Amino acid sequence: MTDFRSARIVIDLDAVAANVAGLAALVAPAAVLATVKADAYGHGAVPVARAALGAGATWLGVASVEECVELRAAGITAPVLGFAEPPVAAAATVVQAGLTPFVYSEAGIDALGAAAERAGTVLPVHLKVDTGMHRVGCRPEAAPVLAERVAAHGALRLEGIGTHLAAADGPDPTATEGQLDAFEVVLAAVTRAVGRPSVVHAANSAGAVAFPRARYDLVRLGISVYGVVPAPELVGRVDLRPVLALEAGVSFVKDLPAGARVSYGWRYELARPARIATVPVGYADGVPRALGTRGGEVLVGGRRCPIAGTVTMDQLMVDVGDADVAVGDPVVLIGRQGDEVILADEWATRLDTIPNEILTRFGGRLPRHHVGGTR
Ligand SMILES: Cc1ncc(COP(=O)(O)O)c(C=O)c1O
Repeated sequence: MTDFRSARIVIDLDAVAANVAGLAALVAPAAVLATVKADAYGHGAVPVARAALGAGATWLGVASVEECVELRAAGITAPVLGFAEPPVAAAATVVQAGLTPFVYSEAGIDALGAAAERAGTVLPVHLKVDTGMHRVGCRPEAAPVLAERVAAHGALRLEGIGTHLAAADGPDPTATEGQLDAFEVVLAAVTRAVGRPSVVHAANSAGAVAFPRARYDLVRLGISVYGVVPAPELVGRVDLRPVLALEAGVSFVKDLPAGARVSYGWRYELARPARIATVPVGYADGVPRALGTRGGEVLVGGRRCPIAGTVTMDQLMVDVGDADVAVGDPVVLIGRQGDEVILADEWATRLDTIPNEILTRFGGRLPRHHVGGTR
C-alpha cells in the first residue's frame, strides 16, 4: 500500500560501502565480518549485507539461525557466522542454511555433528571462548577438550576460534589486554590439541580500531559499519560516514501564546509566543519518549529547534519559534539539513545509552528507503 505518512528512514548504502572499505584497509591483512544481526542494527539486513560484501567484507555475522535463513533466501552465499550456539533443535536448519555457528557446549557440538552427518556434509564451526564477557562461550580450561570433541566428529571441522571483548570501548585498556592475553593462552592450548584453527577472531568495532593485536585473522565489525565511531576516545582515529537518517514532514502548525504548555504532562511551557509544528513520528517508531524532556532537538529549515515536551506514541511537537514553517516542510530528526547535523550519538548522550540501542529501535512501522549502493 502507498505510504501516506511522511516519516521514513533513509539508509545510505554508499556510506556503508565507504565505511567497510575504509575499515578493511585499516585492519588488513585481517578480513572483515560485517555484523548484520538485528536487521543490520535496524538498517535492513539484506541490502546492508550486499553493500558490505561489495565493499570488501568477506563474512557476515548474525545472532540467530533465522537471520541466516533470511540472508540465504535473498541469495547471499557468503560465509555467515552465528554469534551464539544454535539451539539443539535448530541443528538441521543450521546445516541446511550453511550457517557457521559458534559452539561452546558438548550438547551443541554433538547435535551439529549428528545433523551434518545426516546431511552427508562437513560443517565448519568456530569455538567461542569466554575470556571475560561472561555472556556465552566455554571456560578457557574447557576449550582444548571441546576442540577435541569437534575433531572427533567426522562431519565437523574446527575452522575458527573466537572470543568477545567486554570493554574495548572503555577508556582503560587493561581489561582488554587481559582478555587478549587469556585468549592467546587458550589459542596455544587448542593449537597443541588439534592444530591452529585458520580463523582466529576477537575484535568488535572498538577492539579492531583501538587494539591492533586483537585483529588476528578476522574482525567482527558492527556499529562502525553503520558510521558510528565506536568509542568517544576513538573520535578522529577512524573516518566514518553516518548511514541512517530519520526524516519526516510537518503535519500541522499552530501559533500559541506565551504560557501555553505542550504535550502530555504539560512539561514544556512557552516563555514567549511561538509556532509549534507537529511531526508524525513518535515512540512507537523508536523515538524515545524522554527525548523531548532531555533537550532533544530536530532540524527544520536548516536550524536546530527543540522538541516541545514529551514525545507521544505517533507524533511529536517542535518549537520553531517565529520561523515561517508550513505543513509539508521537511524535518530531520537524525541526519543532516544544511550545515547542521544530528547524530544518533547525540540522542544516546541525552538518554544515557549507546547509539546501538537508538539505531536498533527504529523500524517496524517506519518505511525504510535504501539509497545508493548496488540494490
Ligand atoms: C559476538 C559479537 N561480535 C561482534 C559484535 C559487533 O560489535 P560492535 O557493534 O561493537 O562492532 C557483536 C555485537 O554485539 C557481537 O555480539
